[in-house]
Amino acid sequence: MATYYLEPSRTFSEFLLIPNLTTKDCTPNNVDLKTPITKFKKGEEPAISLNIPFSSAVMQSVSDHNMATALARCGGISFIFGSQSIEDQASMVRKVKEYKAGFVVSRSNLKPDQTLQDVLNLKEENSHSTVAITEDGTSSGKLLGIVTSRDYRLSRDSLDKPISQFMTPFSSLIYGTSGITLPEANDLIWEKKLNCLPIVDEHQHLQHLVFRKDYDADKENPHGLLDTNKSYIVGAGINTKDYKERVPALVEAGVDILVIDSSDGYSEWQYETVQYVKENFDVKIGAGNVVDREGFLYLVKSGADFVKVGIGGGSICITREQKGIGRGQASALMEVAEAREQYYKETGIYVPICSDGGIVHDYHITLALAMGADFVMMGRYFARFDESPTKKLKVGNNFVKEFWGEGSNRARNWQRYDTGGKQGLIFEEGVDSYVPYAGTLKENLDKTIHKMKSTMCNCGSTSIEELQQNARITLVSATSLVEGGAHDVIMKENGLSAE
Ligand code: IMP
Repeated sequence: MATYYLEPSRTFSEFLLIPNLTTKDCTPNNVDLKTPITKFKKGEEPAISLNIPFSSAVMQSVSDHNMATALARCGGISFIFGSQSIEDQASMVRKVKEYKAGFVVSRSNLKPDQTLQDVLNLKEENSHSTVAITEDGTSSGKLLGIVTSRDYRLSRDSLDKPISQFMTPFSSLIYGTSGITLPEANDLIWEKKLNCLPIVDEHQHLQHLVFRKDYDADKENPHGLLDTNKSYIVGAGINTKDYKERVPALVEAGVDILVIDSSDGYSEWQYETVQYVKENFDVKIGAGNVVDREGFLYLVKSGADFVKVGIGGGSICITREQKGIGRGQASALMEVAEAREQYYKETGIYVPICSDGGIVHDYHITLALAMGADFVMMGRYFARFDESPTKKLKVGNNFVKEFWGEGSNRARNWQRYDTGGKQGLIFEEGVDSYVPYAGTLKENLDKTIHKMKSTMCNCGSTSIEELQQNARITLVSATSLVEGGAHDVIMKENGLSAE
């Protein structure tokens, strides 16, 4: 006979936090968001901790090397998507590990025979003010010049004017050569009053750009997530099918931590994959996703360093509609967190859990932490930023970015579905969508973090551990949800104004 769970499963929006006493030392500046990501024994330090409890989702439209460096710079981690060739994924990992703070790969590149109109289109698309002009229009082609807004005047120049006629040519550029250090590059930038210094190799091929603003920005990021060699820490997604080829390549590229990316992780395929990785490599590995105690304990038994929780709550996810499996994210998390506590008491081993998917408001992150998550994984949240791999597009009067599920036809990532054998999936579990463009990762993250720290202070906690121990969480009724928003007033933003 079937087992019934007759309590409805809950989502984050159905809960609120009740404030505890806020003592005078409990201020946002005193809140520490450091959190473990790999299992550890009581009294010992985890091998890897995050400085902020954020990870970006294992998705084509979210986590590439650019997102990974940007997020690690702020103290979180990206798991680079695995739905690409092993070589391409390893190369992204390598780029993160080899990234030198302050040296960026040029993301706006054109050829000299393109036009002013092309420059303007590119600028509208990605808001970069500096365009590198290379022989082949790539970020590593022979550098022929640079275009910034100082090189053209819209009132005077025609839009079909070739770039070669108005760019600052290489012969007039001040540039650095391979091997230059960041302080040296910075000295040149200051001495010559530059905004950007291109770095070229001995064949004049573009390697990096160093921006004045990035140098300052790096100094503003004391929370960068670094390994012992001062490279950024990076994760990567794997599947349960080609792991025997993929994992060695990722380890060789320097990956710090893997995660098995799957919609349902309570499977013998996951168990075998974790065991294989643990037996053959010295690399950390997380597994998932699960939504209950049994799934959690099964993956812990396999040797997983952390366990990811959540089925069907993702913003682009239609798993629940398609297959009828899943559980409200809050209920799943609370049950797994309880199992983790019990396991910790019995064994003295703390296994971090990650709440994956379904974060809509910033306070959902704080709630997830209060319910026992050690960190969250988000797709939609990060997809909105400049640093995500997708194009910024204009729809009507608004800018958007594309965002598609790993289980959508577009991603064609059938390897994340454990159907046994090599057969692909014949129905979709995700959609292809837009999300509103929201600017840079750093400015959004800073705001979110400030909100979270303020909430934690309301709850009398200056660390995630304290929040998990002291939080008082209440269910809310449908009518109190209405009370929680602005209500019974005429909103001015509806276009009304007094005479
Ligand atoms: P979000 O933060 O709500 O956008 O959720 C992101 C999470 O959705 C990811 O970390 C995955 O666990 C999950 N996900 C990604 N792609 C798909 C899909 O196509 N179908 C179902 N779930 C997905």
